[in-house]
Amino acid sequence: MVLEGPFSGKPPKMTIRRVAEDPGEVVPTHPSWSAMILLLAPMEGLLDATLRDVLTRTGGIDRCVSEFIRVTNTVLPERAFLRVVPELLNGSRTRSGVPVRPQLLGSDPACLADNAARLAGMRPHGIDLNFGCPAKTVNQSRGGAVLLDEPELVGRIVAAVRRAVPVHVPVSAKMRLGYNDDHRAEECAFAIAEAGANELVVHARTKAHGYRPPAYWERIAQVRESLPPHLRIPMIANGDIWTVEDALRCQNVTGCHALMMGRGMVTNPGLALSIKGQGFVPWEMMPGLLLAFWQQVGLRVDKRHRAGRLKQWLNYLRRYYPQAQQAFDDLRLTNDADTVQHWFDRNVCVLPKIQAEQADRTPLVAEAFPA
Ligand SMILES: Cc1cc2nc3c(=O)[nH]c(=O)nc-3n(C[C@H](O)[C@H](O)[C@H](O)COP(=O)(O)O)c2cc1C
Repeated sequence: MVLEGPFSGKPPKMTIRRVAEDPGEVVPTHPSWSAMILLLAPMEGLLDATLRDVLTRTGGIDRCVSEFIRVTNTVLPERAFLRVVPELLNGSRTRSGVPVRPQLLGSDPACLADNAARLAGMRPHGIDLNFGCPAKTVNQSRGGAVLLDEPELVGRIVAAVRRAVPVHVPVSAKMRLGYNDDHRAEECAFAIAEAGANELVVHARTKAHGYRPPAYWERIAQVRESLPPHLRIPMIANGDIWTVEDALRCQNVTGCHALMMGRGMVTNPGLALSIKGQGFVPWEMMPGLLLAFWQQVGLRVDKRHRAGRLKQWLNYLRRYYPQAQQAFDDLRLTNDADTVQHWFDRNVCVLPKIQAEQADRTPLVAEAFPA
């Protein structure tokens, strides 16, 4: 991956209208929904700085966690952190101003602490620790979800990182319910909270569950309630939030008012906006977002991987937007960036202009929610 001035150039003009900026609109929002805090999940190999930039432009996301930065036995140079989180050059925020928290993955408390200290010097919006990665290579070297079998070590990692960074830098953790089963979930959460973490994200599955539905939201409630009152750190519920209804149910079941979404946001970039009752992203906006994504992919990704990145996103989008199927079919067989560029030239470059003309006639807020 090439890092070339990730914040150079102006972002394309957005046609989105936020209801907050339009005093004439009456927003049918459930009071507790607008108070929800919504996080964009880390997704290594999919949701990188490029997609974070595009997905946070649409609104609704309060904070992002970066994909993991693997720590083994050295203190990484600053460029290693910047490669994954170029937003560190922008005050640890995406171009639209949404904070990004870098995530570290490793198993050695001292080495993680040293890396966290170096990272803290780059003024990140907090540091997150990964206790959920299911990848075999990562687990074999005792990182990610496999650590959930060793709550004591999990606690030592969090404590070492907490000690290594200034108090004003939040330290959070993200865990699954366990490795093979969930019987130590409470122990792990306790260890994390007792070690001084400021927040805990719980992905409501074990490593053995992979990403298969369902997500066991009720276990998040049990984990939360198992903590003694003085260790009840803010808990963020994660897993299988695809729709506004899912978000509301997840909030009801878990009791968490902060939710994290990954695949749901990649599939429907307007999901966070909709959960907050502030509108949605109509398909007519997508060509502009796809073009912005493609332009940034051109700056940051090796040419031979560019087409793949676009198809990867389209593959998610077609689950929500039937219109994305046509784009996916058009490009499915190509791996050539120039062919994709011609496709954009033919199909998309004219669309943002059409969109801009239509923007005032097409209100963004069209979804009705019961009060
Ligand atoms: C392709 C992919 C990559 C992921 N990478 C990370 C990662 O780097 N760090 C992490 O903590 N979780 C990672 N996850 C887990 C997600 O953050 C999230 O917990 C999971 O997808 C469930 O949430 P969702 O149903 O909203 O997608 C990844 C998930 C996927 C599908």
